[in-house]
Amino acid sequence: MNITIIGSGNVGGTLAVGFRKAGHSIILGVKDPALPFKGKDLAQEYNFPFYPIQEAVQKSEVIVIAAPAHFAHEIAQTLGDVKDKVIIDTMNAVMKKPAHYANSSEAILDNCNCTDVVKCFNTTGAENMANPHYGDTRLDMFVAGDSVKGKHIATQLAKDIGFADCFDFGGNDKFSLMEQFALAWINLAMMQKMGRNIGFKLLKRQ
Ligand SMILES: NC(=O)c1ccc[n+]([C@@H]2O[C@H](COP(=O)([O-])OP(=O)(O)OC[C@H]3O[C@@H](n4cnc5c(N)ncnc54)[C@H](OP(=O)(O)O)[C@@H]3O)[C@@H](O)[C@H]2O)c1
Repeated sequence: MNITIIGSGNVGGTLAVGFRKAGHSIILGVKDPALPFKGKDLAQEYNFPFYPIQEAVQKSEVIVIAAPAHFAHEIAQTLGDVKDKVIIDTMNAVMKKPAHYANSSEAILDNCNCTDVVKCFNTTGAENMANPHYGDTRLDMFVAGDSVKGKHIATQLAKDIGFADCFDFGGNDKFSLMEQFALAWINLAMMQKMGRNIGFKLLKRQ
């Protein structure tokens, strides 16, 4: 798959490397290619091409957004034509909301012409995206959104980077719940001081 990643910090950089190792082609969408950006060293190390956001978006069928959530609506307005693309939103608007939107995914849907927007890779720390293995057990990932196509692609990508499964959290009406779920991880890791080496695994009785 050709995947454009907007935001190349902790999450975007980690996913870029993981997706590349799984065999996908990665392009970074950056604010200004002439200026420094967080993933510049990674871009050099892994030979990721980088372009201004709109140009980078047009080169891929899948767009991953991993920027501060309160910019979600502004970023969505810069994407250009994304009607036939899938957008995977990794962001959490837990501290600061994008304008008057309840969550980042709703802000994206309302500010571009993409209908295949799903939220995924937001419910755990970037370290777990780099390595979801805990001994013999692998963490699970979760995805929400109305787009069946988007959920199929996000699930495949989650498994590609080592998550055991990617459970369907429901439709667009579950975007905020996914952000609250992320806040539960943040609470345990930070506020309750358990540290970032924790993650969620769903158990099912047979
Ligand atoms: N950190 C985690 O473990 C974690 C886990 C799950 C979800 N999340 C969520 O993922 C998102 C990214 O977190 P992060 O920790 O990866 O952040 P980060 O390391 O600070 O990276 C943020 C990236 O967003 C880019 N960016 C900032 N403003 C932008 C704009 N207006 N347009 C385009 N790009 C912009 C930055 O560009 P420059 O490189 O040019 O500065 C940077 O590459 C957040 O919404 C966060 O809530 C984080």
